[in-house]
Amino acid sequence: MSVAKKQYKRITVKSLIEMKANKEKISMLTAYDYTMAKIVDDAGIDVILVGDSASNVMAGHETTLPITLDQMIYHASSVIRAIDRCLVVVDLPFGTYQGNSKNALDSAIRIMKESGGHAVKLEGGSEISESISRILTAGIPVMGHLGLTPQSIYKFGTYTVRAKEEAEAEKLKEDAKLLEELGCFALVLEKVPAKLAQEVAESLTIPVIGIGAGSGVDGQVLVTHDMLGMTHEFNPRFLRRYLDLYSEMTTAFKQYIGDVKSLDFPNDKEQY
Ligand code: KIV
Repeated sequence: MSVAKKQYKRITVKSLIEMKANKEKISMLTAYDYTMAKIVDDAGIDVILVGDSASNVMAGHETTLPITLDQMIYHASSVIRAIDRCLVVVDLPFGTYQGNSKNALDSAIRIMKESGGHAVKLEGGSEISESISRILTAGIPVMGHLGLTPQSIYKFGTYTVRAKEEAEAEKLKEDAKLLEELGCFALVLEKVPAKLAQEVAESLTIPVIGIGAGSGVDGQVLVTHDMLGMTHEFNPRFLRRYLDLYSEMTTAFKQYIGDVKSLDFPNDKEQY
């Protein structure tokens, strides 16, 4: 079922800004490999995020901090080989852009050159404005990310909702305005109160894509493995599961094990 207001052969950063102007919501999901990216793109998603959540989902780390630039490039290049239509945004990993704008530009250039990604995403506001500006001067589109920024987990201490207090909400609003003024083409807002997220979305012309940020924003993003129910230990309130793949895959694996052990597989037709 498509409820698109305009058909796009290829999604660009301009398409997303147009979608916001046309009040068409933007759909975004994560992918880290060729096979998943092909299914997600063929289904008609607008944006694939090669998120640094690959650190958790693909590598089993507790946080997003350990993933390296080389590993992000590997994931992003696998995704790029799969897609025909969607925009591919690649996370700059922790330690590759904070504090040194030359380092940030070098990292973003490596992502674009070596993976073929279409844009980069960075976490943070005014404290990384120099890095964002420098990346933008090279013609690389930048997506911002405010609210819960998992690369700062050791500063926050928990993954709970951000910006519930007035001072943090004010800083978030200022940062969102700044990111738009610097030239970011879109912004992810993670785990913030829905009212605040709507206020930010309404105050900007660039699209705001939410995760745990309510329905008043311009689009939604989820981690694909979570919405497919492959990760069953992660149960935040904002997550809608569209499948229970953990159970379905477990059933299939158990059946296969049973078939092998009982000599049911392979049968006469399944051999040469
Ligand atoms: O890395 C990621 O998957 C993300 C999303 C949660 C927005 O940044």
